Amino acid sequence: MKGLILSGGKGTRLYPLTYTRAKQLLPVANKPVLFRVIEAIRDAGIREIAIVIGDTGPQVREAVGDGSQFGDVEITYIEQDAPRGLAHAVKIAQPFMGDERFVMFLGDNVIQGGISRLISEFEHHPEWHSQIVLKEVKDPRSFGVAKLADNGHIEYLIEKPAEPPSNLALVGIYMFDHHVFEAVNAIQPSKRGELEITDAIQWLITNGYTVFPYVHPGWWIDTGKARDMLEANSHVLEELTPYVAGTVDDHSEIDSRVTIEEGAEIINSVIRGPSIIGKHCKIINSYIGPFTSIYHDVTVEHSEIERSMVLEHSVLRNVPTRLYDSLIGRNADVDISDKRPFAMKLTLGDYSKVRLLKE
Ligand code: TTP
Repeated sequence: MKGLILSGGKGTRLYPLTYTRAKQLLPVANKPVLFRVIEAIRDAGIREIAIVIGDTGPQVREAVGDGSQFGDVEITYIEQDAPRGLAHAVKIAQPFMGDERFVMFLGDNVIQGGISRLISEFEHHPEWHSQIVLKEVKDPRSFGVAKLADNGHIEYLIEKPAEPPSNLALVGIYMFDHHVFEAVNAIQPSKRGELEITDAIQWLITNGYTVFPYVHPGWWIDTGKARDMLEANSHVLEELTPYVAGTVDDHSEIDSRVTIEEGAEIINSVIRGPSIIGKHCKIINSYIGPFTSIYHDVTVEHSEIERSMVLEHSVLRNVPTRLYDSLIGRNADVDISDKRPFAMKLTLGDYSKVRLLKE
């Protein structure tokens, strides 16, 4: 089998963080989501992986390279001229896939426990044309939803239904054989102008091909929005095996579920896990609470932060209230000033969000 990762798209829902950065490269628990996807595919025994890239392609190429950093994988890049839909990404991957069966994984999704089980299930059923990962969700109305038939197949799919036929939502992982190329060549763009993967799968079903479900028992998160990033971060932090490679002074207190990466310095601070402090960070006279990821080269001084993510090269200094549920981008600077006028001064990027405290 081969792998196909989708890492194009615009990432508009994660503005401003994704103005200048591919959303798939945003780190969850200090590792880019895209790297987690590559590792999940590699751990399922797949070597040949293609990554579909768009405008942010150069960043993705630079971060991932030829794949050798991930061990035994070989990465090929496929350029998509514009985000024309998930089924369009499949279409342009045809020369790479040939007749081989493949798994397609959205590059901004994080799934608990990897995909080895489902890959092996699909491999053991060469007569199945496709298998789709589904997840039970509370409110399926904002998802693509699958209705299962009595014989175990998927009977039909419906996009964002007002009255969902089940609570089984499509998550971003799909397995196909070469018949999917007939489907993506037969369907037309949807109202929003994209070639939709649900239409392609529905085409397979309508034309007599067998599409089976795989109901994923663990958590799965599409990191497309800030809230979801924080939730994915919390889940992954809970499963991390902690280690301390940086230095912690005698006046600091860190608990057992804290990871301190190489070169980080913890000085007179309290750190509660699960949390991770990145390489070469300086945490001074501060409190880092549970479910927090501080990425590389960040300074936190005389400040408190909890259930948050801070990206590289940012500085938090003398912040007078505890930050919570916050997503702070790269090279950000949060400080206090004693110079007049005594006013709040904000330099925010487009689409930034600030929630101030009521008096
Ligand atoms: P989406 O989250 O559906 O789209 P997007 O990345 O454009 O995000 P937003 O809605 O915030 O603007 O895409 C899911 C994944 O698939 C994501 O990793 C981007 C990728 N993708 C492609 O590679 N090509 C495409 O044509 C589309 C639509 C998405």
